[in-house]
Amino acid sequence: MTDAPVLLSLQNITKRFGALTANDGISLDLHRGEILALLGENGAGKTTLMNILFGHYVQDEGDVRVLGDGGLTALPPGSPGAALKAGIGMVHQHFTLAENLSGLANIRLGTEPLLSFGREGAARAKVQKIIAESGLDVDLDRRVADLTVGEKQRIEILKALYRDAKVLILDEPTAVLTPQEADGLFVVLRRLAANGLGVIFISHKLGEVLAVSHRILVLRGGKKAGELVTADADRRAIADLMVGKAVAAVVRTPASPGDVLLALENVSLHGASGRSLSGVDLKLRAGEVVGLAGVSGNGQSGIAGLISGLAVPTSGTMRLYGETVTRADPRALVANGVARMPEDRQHDGVVGTMSVADNIAIEEVRSAAFSKMGFLDRKAMRERATAAIAGYDVRCQGPDAEARLLSGGNVQKLILARVLERGPRVILANQPTRGLDVGAQAEVHRRILAARDRGAAVLVISEDLDELFALADRFVVVHAGELHDAGPSEGLDRGTIGLMMAGQSHARAEMAS
Ligand SMILES: Nc1ncnc2c1ncn2[C@@H]1O[C@H](COP(=O)(O)OP(=O)(O)OP(=O)(O)O)[C@@H](O)[C@H]1O
Ligand SMILES: [Mg+2]
Repeated sequence: MTDAPVLLSLQNITKRFGALTANDGISLDLHRGEILALLGENGAGKTTLMNILFGHYVQDEGDVRVLGDGGLTALPPGSPGAALKAGIGMVHQHFTLAENLSGLANIRLGTEPLLSFGREGAARAKVQKIIAESGLDVDLDRRVADLTVGEKQRIEILKALYRDAKVLILDEPTAVLTPQEADGLFVVLRRLAANGLGVIFISHKLGEVLAVSHRILVLRGGKKAGELVTADADRRAIADLMVGKAVAAVVRTPASPGDVLLALENVSLHGASGRSLSGVDLKLRAGEVVGLAGVSGNGQSGIAGLISGLAVPTSGTMRLYGETVTRADPRALVANGVARMPEDRQHDGVVGTMSVADNIAIEEVRSAAFSKMGFLDRKAMRERATAAIAGYDVRCQGPDAEARLLSGGNVQKLILARVLERGPRVILANQPTRGLDVGAQAEVHRRILAARDRGAAVLVISEDLDELFALADRFVVVHAGELHDAGPSEGLDRGTIGLMMAGQSHARAEMAS
């Protein structure tokens, strides 16, 4: 691999934000046909480094060199246009597509006038050739708004390849994908690499990093902590480089379930596709974690919507502490002790332009805790924020820092602090560790179990069966809008859950696995 020519070379990149050095003298070579995984704790500097590469940020020191006709040539700093022209393609974690245009229009957008009819045929032919070579199958004529997350990501990758990218950068591409979609993405990346593309992807999932990459670069505190050849690496070696120590396993003690705190009784929901539910019964008891398994799009978002008050059932009843709350709005539920960790932290989680302290208080500014004779009690808010920042290891410059300046994983920790610090009685944890590094994942698991032990009723929705088995006392499986009981987690194995996710009854799944 290292015999292949160097496509991209970072030399001594340093980037400071005020007193913080986000990247500290980082050097790196990427070869033709190579898949490089970029790893590190939340806030280690991964996204910053990629933003420099793509010209979004200007480095304070160092060079980015890209292979061109005249050998490796330094890019002018801070110019996305120059980076694009030199063949660097970036797929951001939050897509930058125009929702009302078709996939094809999005791919052409920015490179050529869309109204040039003659050229549309040529553009389509070029994209179809790329699809045939890469396996990036997607309907080019559908409106982007109607595509799944996985399909939108394909459009983003096609857009980069349409611009003749030599290097493709993906920032946590699998964080938003189902495990099945992630497998599909990796098949594509391997094919692209085999055709000579250089790929850099950021991930917190060690399993996929070990399965897909050729080489691993680990950042720690803005510095290069080390580089590994994947064939010689294992989880332990990677975790060692990332955090400097092994991550302690989380132990789940037996639950002692109490009263039913929240119940869905024969609830149906006629929602958009993926949200519909029919005749769902679900009981969440004090002191118990229920794990909701299912292939994404089978009704998870409907259940999450009901519990957070964002969706109203078409029929059936929802009860909270025995009282009917079928039409309660989100604010009323929050005020009554129902907390939710939103699945999409960027859209539902924080207000980027507000401070960390304000974001922590955001859902309870009307409550007594933060008001003094009708005015906001800024001091109490700051104290709460300072404690939350320390308690949840939110890496930021302090309670006054704007939330948008936090790294992705640190935004997630901020939301967790807000949700858990208020001592909620019912917790909806929707993909609670998406985007968190291994240490932070273990910490969140510990906190969810501590909330359970304090008597909270918890529903965990996750695509990750490892996560569900770590947390759940009891499993339910959603398939095609119907919810099936799978019983206590102790007697369950992955095979049974997998078959139930595919639509088999519990009894048949158990016999088969
Ligand atoms: N524009 C900015 N202004 C100030 N600080 C910033 C800015 N962008 C990033 N930072 C800080 O730089 C550090 C590195 O952030 P970065 O986003 O690169 O981390 P990351 O490794 O991608 O983490 P994660 O895994 O959580 O996504 C963080 O402490 C972050 O708060
Ligand atoms: Mg990041």
